[in-house]
Amino acid sequence: MVELKLVGFSGSYGRPSKTSALVAYVAELACARYGLEKAVYDLADVGDSLGVAKTQFDLDPAGAEVMSAVVEADLLVIGSPTYKGSYPGMFKHFIDLIDPQQLRGKPVLITATGGGERHALMVEHQLRPLFGFFMAHTIPTAIYASNNDFSGHEIASPALQERIGFAVDELQAFVHMGRGRR
Ligand SMILES: Cc1cc2nc3c(=O)[nH]c(=O)nc-3n(C[C@H](O)[C@H](O)[C@H](O)COP(=O)(O)O)c2cc1C
Repeated sequence: MVELKLVGFSGSYGRPSKTSALVAYVAELACARYGLEKAVYDLADVGDSLGVAKTQFDLDPAGAEVMSAVVEADLLVIGSPTYKGSYPGMFKHFIDLIDPQQLRGKPVLITATGGGERHALMVEHQLRPLFGFFMAHTIPTAIYASNNDFSGHEIASPALQERIGFAVDELQAFVHMGRGRR
């Protein structure tokens, strides 16, 4: 049987990156729990062609590979750093290249990181409406992690780990539905 594929995408260029660490953590937990195939990317994987791309077909092969993985995923884990209370422009530009139909009905677990707690609702006020535009199924529990939730670039907060567990629980229905369609 072909396994469902979970793709993680972090809208950060940084390496190391707290956002990428969060996406990788969530993706690893979900894939281990449900036996999913996993791939995780960040904005650096997309590469420099993103900046000048007017459509997804203008991306170079590296960028096109990430775009294909994202739009063909059975389940998505999206992560974004918080910049000025919202997602970074280059993250939005990558999402802008996606055709509205390509994410329709897709389960999306949304996550974000920020320096402090003040912008914790960024996941609800910025990321959820963005994926609402695509008529994607955003998972009810969204994850926001601040600097205090990390030790270096490792997730260190039990409360955050518990919340990630709740969000991963909520993926279960979509895993069953996805398998039913195969
Ligand atoms: C340009 C810029 C703007 C930022 N704006 C905010 C902000 O508005 N609110 C916040 O909590 N953190 C803000 N931060 C901090 C980052 O969101 C935070 O350090 C994040 O975890 C970085 O993720 P990364 O390690 O994946 O790059 C900003 C950082 C940068 C570089």
